[in-house]
Amino acid sequence: MTVIKHALPNEVEGKVALVTGAASGIGKAIALLLHARGAKVVAEDRNPAVEELARPGLVPLVADITEDGAAERAVGLAVEQFGRLDILVNNAGIIINKLVIDMTREDWERIQAVNATAAFLHCREAVKAMMPNKAGAIVNIASYASYFAFPTIAAYTASKGALAQLTRTLALEVIGHGIRVNAVGVGDVVTNILNDVVDDGPAFLAQHGEAAPIGRAAQPEEIAEVVAFLASDRASFIVGSVVMADGGMTVTAG
Ligand SMILES: NC(=O)c1ccc[n+]([C@@H]2O[C@H](COP(=O)([O-])OP(=O)(O)OC[C@H]3O[C@@H](n4cnc5c(N)ncnc54)[C@H](O)[C@@H]3O)[C@@H](O)[C@H]2O)c1
Repeated sequence: MTVIKHALPNEVEGKVALVTGAASGIGKAIALLLHARGAKVVAEDRNPAVEELARPGLVPLVADITEDGAAERAVGLAVEQFGRLDILVNNAGIIINKLVIDMTREDWERIQAVNATAAFLHCREAVKAMMPNKAGAIVNIASYASYFAFPTIAAYTASKGALAQLTRTLALEVIGHGIRVNAVGVGDVVTNILNDVVDDGPAFLAQHGEAAPIGRAAQPEEIAEVVAFLASDRASFIVGSVVMADGGMTVTAG
């Protein structure tokens, strides 16, 4: 049993991590924080900008996580480059703003493919690599939209609800192998995720966040801190949780 007596600055020292959606926003902050705290990192994104993260111990992988074999290739790269896989962060995500009545099957399936199916496939391949080590941590980037809703985001809420339930179910399946699966229920964070659906995505999120009890949106680094903790042995008793990091958004009644 691991008993942690001190908060360690290099809490993931010597571990090997795979982070999806690492070219921007929350994923970029996660990849850089895990690396700064001592992990070797494979940073996967379809956006070639992920290559700017390259440095000793941090290997970018330009890939669309929805393609057949993408999860196998990403996990394989971590093992090939660094000898093992200890941490998977399923962070890549996309959103669409459409009423259900206006949504096409293709719209719906595109959101599920990134937010739910690719996360499942990365979990499956990561678990295969972690099982022989009898250790590992998976952190899925869920959302307050895993539980709450507002009009026009049904495809997104459904995908994030699926991710929360994947987290809980897989946690039960693999904790016996020493692998912890958890998620972060993220509130509003100032990133580019809404850039395709509103005029100024970061400004919209900053303003939307003001409705949370904390009175503001988060910066990506604030979410990365929660991920680093959940990925580390300091979170050794946390299994199947969706840890809310939402400035109180889901606590308030009004
Ligand atoms: N920003 C928020 O307010 C907020 C709130 C709740 C949850 N989240 C979640 O946080 C996660 C990160 O989002 P973000 O806000 O940093 O957005 P972002 O758009 O800045 O980053 C998402 C990254 O995922 C990558 N990506 C998307 N589809 C991909 C694919 N098919 N293959 C590979 N990479 C792909 C993008 O290229 C991008 O770099 C998402 O899962 C999102 O749902 C964000």
